[in-house]
Amino acid sequence: MLHFSEAAEKNKNHILLVLRDRLLPNAHVLEIGSGSGQHALYMASEMKTITWQPTERSEGMLDLTKNLSDYGSPNILAPLILDLSLEQWPSANTNCVYSANVIHIVNKNLGENLIRGAGNNLSEGGLLILYGPYKYDGDFTTPSNAEFDAWLKERDPHSGIRDFEWVADLANQQGLQLQDDLPMPANNQILIFQR
Ligand SMILES: C[S@@+](CC[C@H](N)C(=O)[O-])C[C@H]1O[C@@H](n2cnc3c(N)ncnc32)[C@H](O)[C@@H]1O
Repeated sequence: MLHFSEAAEKNKNHILLVLRDRLLPNAHVLEIGSGSGQHALYMASEMKTITWQPTERSEGMLDLTKNLSDYGSPNILAPLILDLSLEQWPSANTNCVYSANVIHIVNKNLGENLIRGAGNNLSEGGLLILYGPYKYDGDFTTPSNAEFDAWLKERDPHSGIRDFEWVADLANQQGLQLQDDLPMPANNQILIFQR
């Protein structure tokens, strides 16, 4: 496995339990920022009736493509280049836009593009599912998330744990309403918005 993520390995089953409960049996999931593809591989192998469309920016495509071809299942589509800094979303309507640990990595403009893209692509009843840490009323949920935020900003001053309210406002502007905010292990959340 190229570009293996320890975090993705640890969180994948917790995320599966939520997705399994929320996705339609024949859901088409568009993933943004698939990274190594560990989530795509695991979710698709555990939910055989869904279709999973992994995407990455071009820098990550070689590793992602290799991992998917080495370990993939038939319900994973060939990965597409989707860079949030470019307007290049696939035209197909999707039931679910899923993105884990991306919105605090990319800058706020690209975070907005992620939510706007979901708004443009989600079919009626479709879900935007965001996994990661968030701040509430301007506060980190834990000291370790504050440390994580400082670490992120040292790497890139434009990264940072986002405010839940900022995300929810942007989603609302796209006609996406908060359906659930679920606490997850390791001080993360799953935010679920529905069109
Ligand atoms: C922390 S990793 C998360 C990877 C994976 N989703 C996971 O949970 O293991 C952040 C991901 O965001 C992707 N990313 C960074 N900038 C991006 C951009 N402009 N457009 C799309 N993805 C981007 C990175 O390539 C990387 O795969």
